Amino acid sequence: MDKIVIDGGAPLRGSVDVSGAKNAALPTLAAALLAEGDHVVRNVPNLADVRTMGRLLGSMECAFERDPAGHVARIRVPAAITPEAPYELVKTMRASVVVLGPLAARWGKARVSLPGGCAIGARPIDQHLKGLAALGAKITLEHGYVDVEVPGGRLKGTVFTFDGQTVTGTENIMMAATLAEGRTVLENCAREPEVVDLANALNRMGARIEGAGTAELRIDGVESLRPLDHAVIPDRIEAGTFLVAGALPGNDVTVMGCVPGHLEALIEKLRTVGADVKEVAGGVRVVGDGRPRPTDIRTQPHPGFPTDMQAQMMVLLCLAEGSSRLTETVFENRYMHVQELQRLGADITVDGKTAVVRGVPALSGAPVMASDLRASAALVLAGLAAKGTTEVQRVYHLDRGYERIEAKLAPLGARITRVKA
Ligand code: EPU
Repeated sequence: MDKIVIDGGAPLRGSVDVSGAKNAALPTLAAALLAEGDHVVRNVPNLADVRTMGRLLGSMECAFERDPAGHVARIRVPAAITPEAPYELVKTMRASVVVLGPLAARWGKARVSLPGGCAIGARPIDQHLKGLAALGAKITLEHGYVDVEVPGGRLKGTVFTFDGQTVTGTENIMMAATLAEGRTVLENCAREPEVVDLANALNRMGARIEGAGTAELRIDGVESLRPLDHAVIPDRIEAGTFLVAGALPGNDVTVMGCVPGHLEALIEKLRTVGADVKEVAGGVRVVGDGRPRPTDIRTQPHPGFPTDMQAQMMVLLCLAEGSSRLTETVFENRYMHVQELQRLGADITVDGKTAVVRGVPALSGAPVMASDLRASAALVLAGLAAKGTTEVQRVYHLDRGYERIEAKLAPLGARITRVKA
């Protein structure tokens, strides 16, 4: 299995480009299932998860191909498909569940494997199922699969309130409602930029969605949609990961192509800990001057501080002059990186949802093991800051969400290489 080897301590200077957002690309690719014909999705990141979504669409008889760089995806949706997402694919990528809404809406039928738990928490999909049931779908759970049957073949508009905010849940029910009969009002929706981007893509297909980016979505169902041609937004979490790299002591990094408005909570925290953050033409520049100041952070749904940046921010706080408190409110088990950071000399204690990070003057390189995607990114950042050599194993987690991270960091001065197994 590949590993990333980092000889830490080299200052990072220069600019780095952001790829398209994984978490916008995945639901947008699934949205193709809402209309027969030839779809194009641009600015797609070249990642393992996108390949998995391509395999999933392929397994449903859709043709899926990408250009050689992997950034333009073309999907041909035929007149008849097999509306089924098998366990083999769903178990490798939970986000496969975003096919559920489009399948129910366009094909009146869906059979999707239940995703099960994962490294960061239990992650149920009860809200996705409740939303579909509110739209009139009959749902049965059997043999590890969700079976959805839409009586009469068409969902019916409704008013539905999510019990808690869910990103892919909002995306699924929003997609389902685009083809329902009549008006759907969804309350307590997720407000993440990826939800807004998907709503924009759906509206370009002919959907009538209002309110994206607020807690209430109003969707007037239409009879049919036309094929999709949409460029997905830049990846705010990849961008955020590079911004944290820039905020590490002695670094000066400009992240090009990101949308500062998507990164407000993170930028505010980077300023609080003493990094110099400026918007420049086409990007954001961060200079990390000396050891960071400590701060307290609570993860929250957007526009709060993103859970997907908690692990990376923890690395910065590991080097702060003083103690910080992180509270993870979105997922119940998202501190798997703590034990690995401790191997690099970090001083962290976890009690339930809260991690207390007592800053140390320096980290020291060691072999570490990644447990999930964002934890892997945090370990790479820690390796860049640590003295000596860090080996990050289980790189497949990293490859699910970061496009050639080593090739993006090396030109900044990082001594980082991928060692092929
Ligand atoms: N939840 C429920 N019931 C549901 C759905 C969610 O209880 O039916 C709970 C979850 O267990 C969790 C909370 O609600 O505690 C929020 O989960 P959410 O549904 O919003 O997460 P998700 O849609 O499964 C997306 C991203 C994640 C990101 C979260 C939170 C995609 C494909 N994934 O997941 O991204 O952490 O939103 O922002 O969009 C990543 O990219 O590394 C990643 C994990």
